[in-house]
Amino acid sequence: MMTLERRPNIDGEDFHHDPVMESEIIEILGNLQPGVFADLTLGGAGHAVAALTANNALTVHGFDRDDVAIDAASARLAGFGDRAVIHTTRFDRAADLLREAGVESISGFLMDLGVSSPQLDVGARGFSYRIDGPLDMRMDHRDTKTAADIVNTYAPGELLDVLRSYGDERHASRIVDAIMSARPLSTTGELAQLVADAVPAAARRKSTGHPAKRTFQALRIEVNAELEILGDTLESMIDMLAPNGVGLVLTYHSGEDRITKDRMRTAIDGDAPPGMPTTSPYRWFFRGARTASDTELERNPRSRSARLRAITRVAS
Ligand SMILES: C[S@@+](CC[C@H](N)C(=O)[O-])C[C@H]1O[C@@H](n2cnc3c(N)ncnc32)[C@H](O)[C@@H]1O
Repeated sequence: MMTLERRPNIDGEDFHHDPVMESEIIEILGNLQPGVFADLTLGGAGHAVAALTANNALTVHGFDRDDVAIDAASARLAGFGDRAVIHTTRFDRAADLLREAGVESISGFLMDLGVSSPQLDVGARGFSYRIDGPLDMRMDHRDTKTAADIVNTYAPGELLDVLRSYGDERHASRIVDAIMSARPLSTTGELAQLVADAVPAAARRKSTGHPAKRTFQALRIEVNAELEILGDTLESMIDMLAPNGVGLVLTYHSGEDRITKDRMRTAIDGDAPPGMPTTSPYRWFFRGARTASDTELERNPRSRSARLRAITRVAS
C-alpha cells in the first residue's frame, strides 16, 4: 500500500479560501440565540470568524480533520480567546467531543462540505486535475488509503462503482478500461491525461469543465469516506439543536445533497403517518435549497454547485 507521509507546509497567511454564501449564512448565524455554534468543517475559519464577529453571544467549537486547515484556523481564531475551541478530528466525533466539553445543546451548526481551496490548489495534496502532484487526496495525512491505492489496487468492478456512484461518470467503463491497461499510475497529471484520452471526443467537446473532474471527485469521496459518515453526523447535530437552533449544510454535489435533504426531512416528518400532523420539534428553516448570488458566482466559481439547506428546532 502506498502511503505518503508528506504534510504540506502552508501557514495561516497563505491559506486562501473564500467562504461560500457568506452573507446569506452570516445573516442567519448573526441572529442565533446565545450559546455554542458548532462549525463541523472549520477549514480556514472564514465562516467561523464572520459568525463570532457578527454575534457576540456565540462561542464556536470548530472541527476539521486536516492539520493544514487547523493551523490556519488556529491562527485566525487566536484573537477570540476562549470563544473559540478547536478540535482536530473527523466530524463524526463532534457530538461526543461537545458532550465531553460539557456542551449538551447547541444554538446552531454549519457543515460546509467538500474541499477547501488550499486542498485543491496545492499540487502536493494530490486533489487537482490541473496541477501535477502525487495521487494522494487525503484530507487527513494520518489516513493510510490514498487515491493511488484505489486506482492501482481496486478490481475493475469496484472502480466502476466508485466512478458511477460518487462521480455520476457516464464514461466510467471506458475510463476504468484505460486505468486497467495503464496502471500503476502515480501522479494526478497522468490520471487527468488518461481520462481526457479515454472520454469520447464528442463528449470532451460538449463538456463544460475538465473531462477528469468527475473522476477526481469520485476518487476524493472514496479516499475520505465522505458520504459514509455524513448522514449519521448530521442526525447527531440535529439532535443537539436547542429550541430556536438552526442547522445549515452547504453541499456541492448530488450525493451529499440527497443525504442532507433526506436526513433533514426524516427529522422534520418524525413518526407521524402520512397526512397526520407531525409531533417532531423540527421544521425547515427555509424551503428547498438556496444557491449563490450572481455576484458571488462571478467572483468565486467554486460557489457554482453550492446548495444551502437549513433546519430549525421550534421554540418549546
Ligand atoms: C469547504 S472547506 C470549509 C471552509 C470553511 N467553511 C471556511 O470558511 O474556511 C471544508 C473543510 O472541511 C473539512 N472536512 C471535510 N470533511 C470532513 C470530515 N468528515 N471531518 C472533518 N473535517 C472535514 C476539510 O478538511 C476542509 O477543511
